[in-house]
Amino acid sequence: RIPTPQPATPEAVAEVIKEICKHFKWKDAVGCGYPGVVQNGVAKTAANIDKTWIDTNVEGLIQKVTGSPAKVLNDADAAAIAEMKYGAGRKNRGLIITITIGTGVGVAMFTQKKLVPNCELGHIFLPEFGEAEKWMSDGARKALKLEWDEWMERIDLYLKHLESLFYPDMIIIGGGLAKKLDPGKMPFTTQCKVVPAKLLNEAGIIGAAYAASKLE
Ligand code: BGC
Repeated sequence: RIPTPQPATPEAVAEVIKEICKHFKWKDAVGCGYPGVVQNGVAKTAANIDKTWIDTNVEGLIQKVTGSPAKVLNDADAAAIAEMKYGAGRKNRGLIITITIGTGVGVAMFTQKKLVPNCELGHIFLPEFGEAEKWMSDGARKALKLEWDEWMERIDLYLKHLESLFYPDMIIIGGGLAKKLDPGKMPFTTQCKVVPAKLLNEAGIIGAAYAASKLE
């Protein structure tokens, strides 16, 4: 594990990726989850990271520094791909929403085993409380010093709001929060089942690797 360089500009992060590949003598395809919208390998948003990422061709940059083919996709999309393939969503063809709760809130939607990419529903506005991510992410919990119960209540309200808009068959919770949740004692009151990601916080890494393995 290599700490994120500061400032975390595209060039500085690319150096870290190069370092990781060198360490593992890795020559094959590289997969990478990115915490924002990614279209055709190009970053389009940067909610919680250095704004210089916007409009960076991240796939091109990784290819340049590593010499390997690269696949870059939204981090929540990557986590959902892994959960649908190997984790909590396996065998489920319904509407499944995966939510990664960390510094930001990532949301990925699958239906009929197909991904709807770049959903960005962490940024919806909740009546009374404003932008969801700013109110119930792990970043918000730390900034506002929320107690566990209060944090869970906020997430529950957010989940119920999403449920009232999309009526998913199941919600999977990933990100740093996944490992803190007890699958037998989930603190949520949605109608649909809410489960922690089986691959915990590794789901994004696994999903990005899986996406890269599909490169021609
Ligand atoms: C970004 C999403 C990302 C999520 C988790 C949000 O702020 O807009 O694209 O998936 O954070 O990193």
